[in-house]
Amino acid sequence: MLISLWIGAGALLAIILLQIIATLIHKPSLRVYPGPWYTRVTHYVLKFYTLTGRRMQYVHSLHQRYGSVVRLSPNQLAFCDPDAFVSIHKIGSGFTKTQWYEDFSGGAGGTGIGIGLFAMTDVKKHASRRKLFARAFSAASLRSNCEDVVKEKVEKAVSRIMTEARDTGEADIMKWWMLMASDIIGQLSFGESFELLESGEKSHHIQVLEAAALGATLQYEMPGISGLLRRIPVPKLNLLVTAPNLVHKYGEAAVLNLRRHSDNRANLFATMLAQSEAAAEKFELTDDDIRKEASNFILAGADTTAITLTYLVWAVLKRPELRVRVEDEVSTLGPAASDEALEQLPLLNAVIEETLRLYGAVPGNLPRVVPEGGVSLGGYAVPEGIEVETQAYSLHRDPNIFPDPLTYVPCYPSRSLKVTKDRFDETRWMGKDGPKPRSYCPFGAGTRTCAGIHLARMEIRLGAATLFRQCKGLRLGAQMNDEMMEPANFFLATPVGKRCNVRF
Ligand code: HEM
Repeated sequence: MLISLWIGAGALLAIILLQIIATLIHKPSLRVYPGPWYTRVTHYVLKFYTLTGRRMQYVHSLHQRYGSVVRLSPNQLAFCDPDAFVSIHKIGSGFTKTQWYEDFSGGAGGTGIGIGLFAMTDVKKHASRRKLFARAFSAASLRSNCEDVVKEKVEKAVSRIMTEARDTGEADIMKWWMLMASDIIGQLSFGESFELLESGEKSHHIQVLEAAALGATLQYEMPGISGLLRRIPVPKLNLLVTAPNLVHKYGEAAVLNLRRHSDNRANLFATMLAQSEAAAEKFELTDDDIRKEASNFILAGADTTAITLTYLVWAVLKRPELRVRVEDEVSTLGPAASDEALEQLPLLNAVIEETLRLYGAVPGNLPRVVPEGGVSLGGYAVPEGIEVETQAYSLHRDPNIFPDPLTYVPCYPSRSLKVTKDRFDETRWMGKDGPKPRSYCPFGAGTRTCAGIHLARMEIRLGAATLFRQCKGLRLGAQMNDEMMEPANFFLATPVGKRCNVRF
């Protein structure tokens, strides 16, 4: 056993050394860029931070040390500068999504969740698919066809939170938001809810969702690991391998239901098909496409919204005076308040924007490939084919754009020692009607901006307003602390504690 371990470690070391030598021979083109010396020859340090869920924090620390342009590996650069952000993500920029997206989704081979709108790298195919989605995901269509579904699920979630907090002393809001967001996206994609709120259990479905992003990251970063994880007799490890395939299977229900109830207006795919029938230019949407897109929706549309709502409630409950003001504001509207009415509440919306600035669920790297001929970015010439990336985590903490971003907390026992913490300041969004900063990007940007942005915002507005109106005087759970809410970054950023308890 020991000998095998030594042989394995030796082989790994040899592979790493060979890769470094190969990189040196090929004379990497990014030598002139600022960055730690080792990033000239290896991507293994970046891989290490990716696999340990701290990629965005690591890249942020490099920006703080080396500036707005930093080399991450022999062929990867990160930018934290509004001009570079716009150049990369604006419509028609020529930058395309990297191969990472297709591999992360399971590749063209068909394992994993499958290549849908999110992962498509072909510009034309993506544009045509996006056009098909446009009507169903527009704010107007969602409000007339889907708002009732969202309201019903939100009401149910809040009532279950109240009951659990009263009966057991505390309720885990992260669990309830997960169940709610999954039921909503299930109902809207399949025309049939998963009924997770009914069961109230952190079911297998939620465990699958939690494991899917981590599993996809592991399989991408360490391609050989699947075989090993499959063999270890620990169900949680096996799930990391099987989760993406299980999500793909959920998509099959979407196809069946669509064929059975194609007139259901609250079914997003029914709206898409109706649009495709009516369009002069015919768009193809095969059963396989529907299955892949539905699996993608489940992954993209459940955790993301639930995580954001969880951080929002945590941030508000940490400041009781803010909680009281939010409660007062949402109470000015009745229980039947529409999403449109909620959109007019200044404090609620400021709290939502500040949550998305600091704790948006997708704050990490959005990698893109430099187009043919190369470009000039951040004052440097960048050759074609190089991978460039931006991350909201750093752009949203740029003091030039979001002034005074930190709070200094005196540290016991010496009051001169201080730790810094992100400052949650909702007032930075209040009384400002103009456009938001160019580099504010919780939902991405350009042609690849989040397709579910209006649905997500609707769920967050209705979820937060209903909770703070119906559950006045909420507090954080007795055992909750800031460390539990530190984000672990596996594409999404999820609280490491995996729960957020509240009590009356
Ligand atoms: C607060 C919740 C959400 C956040 C923070 C969020 C964030 C994002 C971000 C940053 C991207 C761009 C990714 C990239 O460029 O690599 C994205 C894309 C996407 N999101 Fe969301 N999302 C949320 C909710 C949703 C919901 C509810 C859906 C519904 C199905 C959804 C569906 C998608 C899809 C399909 C894409 C790919 C769009 C394309 O490439 O054309 N998201 N999201």
